[in-house]
Amino acid sequence: MLNKKIEKELNDQINAEYWSAYFYLSMAAYFESENLPGFANWMRIQYQEEISHVMKFFDYINERGGRVILKPIDAVKAEWNDPIEAFEDTYKHEQKVTELINNLVNISFEEKDHATYNILQWYVAEQVEEEAAADSILQQLKMLEGNKHGLLMLDRELKQRTFTDETAK
Ligand code: FEO
Repeated sequence: MLNKKIEKELNDQINAEYWSAYFYLSMAAYFESENLPGFANWMRIQYQEEISHVMKFFDYINERGGRVILKPIDAVKAEWNDPIEAFEDTYKHEQKVTELINNLVNISFEEKDHATYNILQWYVAEQVEEEAAADSILQQLKMLEGNKHGLLMLDRELKQRTFTDETAK
């Protein structure tokens, strides 16, 4: 059985993961409007990943006899000046999510909830990948220094990204 404090914290994290999904879907819409379908595809996959992060918490709360409560999702930004700004936001956001996950790890430790501590380790590892992926694209964009040809090449590359559900691992 989940204690009430952990249950509330996990429900808050579900909301944060949903916000992330919404944020990246908004970026997908922005990239579609900029005629960059590869970037839009990357963000659409990112959206799917965030939903899978939600569902992993959703299933876990239910498995532990807790109650999932879905709260309103705050509005997200809709416009960016350029792809660099969008990826700066992505990288910054993932760093913030890492902080949230680390905080949850600390709380689960304090509450001596070993099962929650254990499942959070998956998220700790996932955040390393999330930050690295966003930073890698950000660095490539910075190297392009606005070169349109390079941007289209990168767009083509990002079109290749496909969704695989990593949460089962
Ligand atoms: Fe759910 Fe992008 O972290």
